[in-house]
Amino acid sequence: MAFSLTAPFYDLIYQHRNIAREVFFITKHIHARLPNVKNVSLLDIGSGTGVHAVLFGKQNFKVTGVDRSAEMIAIAKQKAHSQNIPIHFIHKDFLKFASSPHYDVITSLFDVASYMTTNEQVRAFFTNVSSLLHKNGLLIFDCWYGPGVLLSRPKIIKQRYKGNGFTIHRKKTPTISYQTNTVSVHHNLTIYGGAHNHHTLEETHVMRYFFYPELENYLQQAGLKIIEWGNIGFPLRPPKNPPWSTYIIAQKIR
Ligand SMILES: C[S@@+](CC[C@H](N)C(=O)[O-])C[C@H]1O[C@@H](n2cnc3c(N)ncnc32)[C@H](O)[C@@H]1O
Repeated sequence: MAFSLTAPFYDLIYQHRNIAREVFFITKHIHARLPNVKNVSLLDIGSGTGVHAVLFGKQNFKVTGVDRSAEMIAIAKQKAHSQNIPIHFIHKDFLKFASSPHYDVITSLFDVASYMTTNEQVRAFFTNVSSLLHKNGLLIFDCWYGPGVLLSRPKIIKQRYKGNGFTIHRKKTPTISYQTNTVSVHHNLTIYGGAHNHHTLEETHVMRYFFYPELENYLQQAGLKIIEWGNIGFPLRPPKNPPWSTYIIAQKIR
């Protein structure tokens, strides 16, 4: 499964993302949209190694993280524990996740929604989100954005990441399906140096790209209304040129 083998290298590979900036803006949106909610409860879907969850915990939100990768959850638990941030991490496929406490905010960041590749999965994802939100609660997520993906055209990408005593060479090979609106990205990682010298890991990540009107429709069917979209900021800024990935803020209206 995606993120089983590569979990130990995830934080190294994605260390240049500015998560603090992203959490800063999302926190501003939460306070602006839910000014009367004290002790905000937040569910982070696809919480991964806990990078967002820990920072949301530092904002004094009551945070739960759910992720289907046991390896990612283990790293997240360790991260929160070492920083003494109380977060409840749950190892579960979100499509099978049920919870009696409901949430003021649900986040799902770094394209987790794009891992829902079929129409049934997309419907189930947003329906479950809606069933877990309080009325007027917020869904804040990002996903691959069709116009950006199609105009940039997925290409083979080779990257290197320097760890402590080892280097990772990563090659990503995409195959696009114009029928299912997905890109199947084959990840090949070879580690040079250290304990895993010359070890190769392979994973395939199938990602769905979405168009605004279909997202609007899926969300509407689930009782959610898009209130802002675009690049991260305060407010979100509708893009001039189509980005690869876009943020959406939706509110539960029924
Ligand atoms: C690109 S990572 C993002 C992790 C984290 N949100 C971040 O920003 O670093 C995608 C995560 O979504 C999780 N994921 C994908 N589909 C899922 C599902 N159906 N239920 C729960 N987690 C899922 C993966 O296991 C992985 O940890």
